[in-house]
Amino acid sequence: MTDRVRIDLGARGYDVLLGPGALAAARRHDVLRSPRRYAVLADANVLRLCSGLVAGALEGLDVAGAPIEIPEGERAKSFATLEMVLGRMLDLGLERGDAVLAIGGGVTGDLAGLAAALYKRGMDVIQVPTTLLAMADSSVGGKTAINMPQGKNLIGVFHQPSFVIAEFGFLDTLPDRERQAGFAEIIKTALIGDRDFFGRLEAAGQNGLTIKHLQAHLKTAITFKAAIVAADEREAGPRALLNLGHTFGHALESEACGALLHGEAVAAGMALAFDYSVRLGLCPDKDAARVRDYLELAGLKTRLSALPGRPFTPEAMLQRMRHDKKNSGGHIRLVLARGIGNAILHDQADSADLLHFLKDQIQ
Ligand code: GLY
Repeated sequence: MTDRVRIDLGARGYDVLLGPGALAAARRHDVLRSPRRYAVLADANVLRLCSGLVAGALEGLDVAGAPIEIPEGERAKSFATLEMVLGRMLDLGLERGDAVLAIGGGVTGDLAGLAAALYKRGMDVIQVPTTLLAMADSSVGGKTAINMPQGKNLIGVFHQPSFVIAEFGFLDTLPDRERQAGFAEIIKTALIGDRDFFGRLEAAGQNGLTIKHLQAHLKTAITFKAAIVAADEREAGPRALLNLGHTFGHALESEACGALLHGEAVAAGMALAFDYSVRLGLCPDKDAARVRDYLELAGLKTRLSALPGRPFTPEAMLQRMRHDKKNSGGHIRLVLARGIGNAILHDQADSADLLHFLKDQIQ
């Protein structure tokens, strides 16, 4: 059975359908029934490995030309690829009332969202996430972006999708490592604001990723995110909490030069955020230990000495953290925790203390 979560943003509100059969259920949804043409964006990997599901997604739709194929991986989030996509959309003669259908992981969704926001001053984008990470986080909430040599996601806009279709059939095509990494974004929501949910995740143990539990877990995570996005769409306040683990995580991810998946970096980053919270006297030691134990049980490494892409240099990590988008007034801003389910924003982190902390962690 498919679940539905509403992202309540008034006139810009939309539904997320999730579960096995979401694509079939989506065909009955008003958003896909209005007559218009669709530009389809996907990478070669998705077009090759998921051809049956992609065909299912396009069934009954007026698709303009062949899918626009984008390069695989982060390198697609560039001005060059954005220009190529927009040029193809113009060549296809798409009008503002048409829509972009993004079928893929976070990279495809971010790029397609930005292309849709810019094309003729804005058209609809429908997100069909194919990875657990994109289902749990990036396809929902309207963040779009490309990367710059200076860092990830530095150029972008908020542009909400008009529909998100999280079809679980795509998850069967994912390697275990990708699924585990995506699960980190689900765990993140429990750590930010739902201690009971964390208890349920612990209770499911290593079965958390089985289909029986996954749909319930994903629905809880998306419902949690929906409330935060509805309250603070443009991240003026509490939405920044959704970045738990991301300041440390982005530094690790960038330093690992592709060896670390985003979710793996976020998992290690969340463990660091809890340990740093303990160091500052904000969080009980036993909560940080519980977080580490559960992440390890979920197959996510938390020790910097065990992560792909090591060794990490404390000075280089701190330098990366100084470029984080959340920073303000030249100070590093972190998401820390008073305990499991109680994340807080911590402005003006002390760089010298952070450096000592990272040195201790990296030893
Ligand atoms: N990925 C965090 C957010 O959507 O705000």
